[in-house]
Amino acid sequence: MKIITVKNYQELSSTAGQLITDLIRRQPHCTLGLATGSTPQGAYDYLVERYRAGDISFREVQTFNLDEYCGLPRSHPQSYFRFMHDNLFRHVDIQPENRHIPCAENGDLQAQCDAYNALLRAATVDLQLLGIGSNGHIGFCEPGTPFDRETFLTRLADKTRQDNQRFFDSLDEVPTTAITMGIKNILQAKSILLIASGRGKAECISQMVNGPVTEAVPASALQLHPDATVIVDEAAAALL
Ligand code: GLP
Repeated sequence: MKIITVKNYQELSSTAGQLITDLIRRQPHCTLGLATGSTPQGAYDYLVERYRAGDISFREVQTFNLDEYCGLPRSHPQSYFRFMHDNLFRHVDIQPENRHIPCAENGDLQAQCDAYNALLRAATVDLQLLGIGSNGHIGFCEPGTPFDRETFLTRLADKTRQDNQRFFDSLDEVPTTAITMGIKNILQAKSILLIASGRGKAECISQMVNGPVTEAVPASALQLHPDATVIVDEAAAALL
């Protein structure tokens, strides 16, 4: 695992954004695995700036998002579909048929998992962007998730729902389930880029980097990957 420590969130965002920019310039038809949460927003802003400056195009880029809450309409302000639209997709020239996000509004959710997994199996993700939950989750793979899981319907940990309550009016409104890529899908990416900011992430970053590889800390699975890079700001690196 390669660790890059930067000063603050702004530097974290530009460093991650630049790595993705370099990949798109090298390989205009690349496939990106994308993440949501507050951490990647700055990196997406950076990519939008580079697109507006004419440095990169998303015309041939394909994307696969990690996860989606169950039961929220795609138009809901907190759905990850809407997040991607608002933070990246509507600002750049990515083709609608090239962007993929699990569909978890309603209906047969197991069938949706299987359909998404079939798409992932047929793809090769060149770079998977990840955030990390304070309990060590990646995507919505919560502690205890076996490393050989592929796309599945997951129950959110209480800690995750509490952490994500800040985006909703009350805890009751935070969904209890989600569709997420499994750890096996995540590890199949050619390269992984995990970003973390703030003192609240220091414990899980230290466990991920220096602790044992264990299902109790899903992000520790990155120790098994041959090309995983972690960018942390000084606060998130406090316990390294
Ligand atoms: C959610 C997402 C994760 C993300 C995590 C951390 O739970 N499913 O992919 O890494 O939030 O979010 P934040 O970056 O807001 O701390």
